Amino acid sequence: MIRAHLTIDPHFTVGPINRRLFGSFVEHLGRCVYDGIYEPGHPTADENGFRQDVVDLVKELGVSAIRYPGGNFVSGYRWEDGIGPREQRPRRLDLAWHSTETNQIGLDEFATWLEAVGSELMYAVNLGTRGVLEALDVLEYANIDSGTYWSDRRIAHGRREPHDIRIWCLGNEMDGPWQLGHSTAEEYAQRAATTAAAMRQVDPDLELVVCGSSGAQMPTFGEWERIVLEKTYENVDFISCHAYYEPEGDDYGSFLASGVDMDRFIDAVVATADSVKATLRSDKTMNISFDEWNVWYQSRYQEVERITDIRSWPVAPRLLEDSYSVLDAVVFGGLLISLIRHADRVTAASLAQLVNVIAPIMTEPGGPAWRQTTFHPFSLTSKLARGTALELKLDSPTYETARYGEVAVVDAVATHDEGGTTIFAVNRSLTDEVTLEIDVRALGRVEAVAATSLFDDDIHAANTLAEPDRVVPRSNDSARVADGTVTVTLPPVSWSLVTLA
Ligand code: AHR
Repeated sequence: MIRAHLTIDPHFTVGPINRRLFGSFVEHLGRCVYDGIYEPGHPTADENGFRQDVVDLVKELGVSAIRYPGGNFVSGYRWEDGIGPREQRPRRLDLAWHSTETNQIGLDEFATWLEAVGSELMYAVNLGTRGVLEALDVLEYANIDSGTYWSDRRIAHGRREPHDIRIWCLGNEMDGPWQLGHSTAEEYAQRAATTAAAMRQVDPDLELVVCGSSGAQMPTFGEWERIVLEKTYENVDFISCHAYYEPEGDDYGSFLASGVDMDRFIDAVVATADSVKATLRSDKTMNISFDEWNVWYQSRYQEVERITDIRSWPVAPRLLEDSYSVLDAVVFGGLLISLIRHADRVTAASLAQLVNVIAPIMTEPGGPAWRQTTFHPFSLTSKLARGTALELKLDSPTYETARYGEVAVVDAVATHDEGGTTIFAVNRSLTDEVTLEIDVRALGRVEAVAATSLFDDDIHAANTLAEPDRVVPRSNDSARVADGTVTVTLPPVSWSLVTLA
């Protein structure tokens, strides 16, 4: 029997948990928008064509801010194509995803959908093939009350009240050679600095996200962050991080330790940002918007390359429709633990993406919608991670990984408010149960303890159209409290939460 030990003391805190940590991402990509959130003619569609079964699942998922409309898509996007009478909207080639964009959904429709799901809009402007003027135009359309060219056009389109978008992304992954308008750090820094300054002239209180590297594996990682932040520091609030994980072959040991990589990535970006802060003698602290993160089987993905004939690029093809297993959900839960552990500096994050495209929610055209395995750790964490993230003392046995060296078998984080304390934990062992002993004496009297775990004898089990609830979280009856210690058994390859009242 393996044991791990955790000490919780509510006096030792990391920082408050910002609700924006539980954000997501909707890109005009594959069937995320069309045949995902929007399917006129579906039995559950409302008068705007939005599927109500999807609205209900998004609410249940507990998503805060939603980044839109891309992603790689945004770098070729003309936002004006998506406003005004639908029948007059142009069909365009979407070079990022080899698709035809019909523009039936644009800013106003997406904002209407967000009102239905109760989430905030995080809007990305195109700094790949466009620049400061178009960013100012969309800002005027979205946020100015009335009496100007773009705000009056919004009103003429039936949207009297401004959308009042508070958080904006200055482009997407501009360091990536795949990006339309891909730039050097110096070029992008200049474009982002000018755009940020101009947008702040319209509204000094906007929250702006500047592009960091599209991944820690990029050759320019680190230098990119330094150069971009040196130019933009005083006019932006966040630098972005993006990370996707998948196993290499059957090296599940490393895959299960993906959170270690995320921890190191965040720590490196924080160190770079703080070094720029010192160089600039600034009083301001830069936060991180981890606005793309997930498990993504990129090595399996070649669908876009297969769409070759530009005369017939499809509308909303099936792209990036990964099916997630129990193993993936445990890795995913570990990534959430890493984000919460950094709640002092990661104050916004977006699960990429929301529906059909590497998503927790899947839909069948004309048919049902269902929850992938990853849906469950997200919804439970979003619901129960409240108040403050705590600094923990965790003693866990370790194991050796090919990718990250020696890592802890158990990883955990805890959150605390007056309502109680919740511990989120993963057991990365492929073979062994772990007994987790939690010293809770500093919490005072713990009257009730309950635990829930996601695991299965078959770590490759997944939820499908035919079997949508094959994998669901189960009550973990092993949790006990006695003499100031909570004990709970964590099954191999599992994600768990323990609530203490
Ligand atoms: O989320 C899928 C894609 O991954 C996004 O469009 C892009 O920003 C990233 O490379």
